Amino acid sequence: MDVLIRNATLPDGTRGIDIAVEHGRIAAIGPGLRVSAQECIDAGGDLVTPPFVDAHFHMDATLSHGLPRVNRSGTLLEGIALWGELKPTLTQEALVERALRYCDWAIARGLLAIRTHVDVCDDRLLAVEALLQVKKQVAPWLDLQLVAFPQDGLLRSPTAFANLRRGVGMGVDVVGGIPHFERTMADGAESVRLLCEFAAERGLRVDMHCDETDDPMSRHIETLAYHAQRLGLHGKVAGSHLTSMHSMDNYYVSKLLPLMREAGVAAIANPLINITLQGRHDSYPKRRGMTRVPELLAAGVDVAFGHDCVMDPWYSLGSADMLEVAHMGLHVAQMTGQEAIHACFLAVTETPARILGLDGYGLQPGCHADMVILDAGSTIEAIRLRAARRYVIRRGRIVSRSPAAHATLDVPGRPGTVDFRHTPAA
Ligand code: FE2
Repeated sequence: MDVLIRNATLPDGTRGIDIAVEHGRIAAIGPGLRVSAQECIDAGGDLVTPPFVDAHFHMDATLSHGLPRVNRSGTLLEGIALWGELKPTLTQEALVERALRYCDWAIARGLLAIRTHVDVCDDRLLAVEALLQVKKQVAPWLDLQLVAFPQDGLLRSPTAFANLRRGVGMGVDVVGGIPHFERTMADGAESVRLLCEFAAERGLRVDMHCDETDDPMSRHIETLAYHAQRLGLHGKVAGSHLTSMHSMDNYYVSKLLPLMREAGVAAIANPLINITLQGRHDSYPKRRGMTRVPELLAAGVDVAFGHDCVMDPWYSLGSADMLEVAHMGLHVAQMTGQEAIHACFLAVTETPARILGLDGYGLQPGCHADMVILDAGSTIEAIRLRAARRYVIRRGRIVSRSPAAHATLDVPGRPGTVDFRHTPAA
């Protein structure tokens, strides 16, 4: 064997597991494996998980915070206006440089697959070219999936559809959309139809920014589920944000969720961004604006959490840490039961891997040997501590190491080293 990881705890809580790796894939997994390997890593009972996956990101805008000015109101609409000011000044070199920098952060955080939307409303398609280049460059370490995203509206922006088709021709993987930003609800519905038919024709997945408003009457998710069902796109369609669902009538939602499930449409919530951008027109009480995560899960709909933004026109914080995303997600959704917290861990690992259609993801024999060894003993502790990524492993090779998060205390009568880990009594 090339690598042997000893004494791992798996995300489902199974302890004392060994993982043998050969030729970049998991060769065997189980307790007390009797194999020899060139390199042995002692996990020491720590959590070993398949890598983090971000189902929703904007890599063309990342790390551009402050360019050409900061978002003073912090609102979605000022962010879109600001992005419009920035777009004409973008250069391919700067886009590539910022994206690569972000990918470095991602790898160090054990985030080894990202679905990023890329704006196709700039006729030069500079961002598409830049991110295709980045995708190729980082492929040995990180899977990048691109979504052709008509930020200014498929029908509202005169060249958007032609550009989206060009982007797909150049190698963009997924069809995006933004129906709530079209001029009318009817145009929004029409954009969903056009985009789903285009995706079905090309055999592509669909991931739309959908109902990213507080308007309880914004119902493009219903149209998206309808066309997914009609065109046989089950398991290939995701609705991103779906914040209107937070404000929708409860009876209507009780009809909507089974329709999403029937159509195999997944939901992608972006807790850090939804909690800050939605509810901005409210006085008090202020709506949270995040979609109905526990209810979607209970209805059998796949739900992933995305980061959406890091240091860009919409959000000045973030550091590629999907545990921070899960942490915010569970707070906003009030998912504080033990199983619910675990479900939030799955929302940044297994579930988005399924939504992206990643091949060979997981810890079963035959899967890619892509893993993260966390400074935590369980998925819940990993979220609680936003645990350090002791080792990040890609195709059986360690690609990043981080020290455990200890502090040295100088308090008389107390131990010198403070370890934030704590195993609760059984
Ligand atoms: Fe987004």
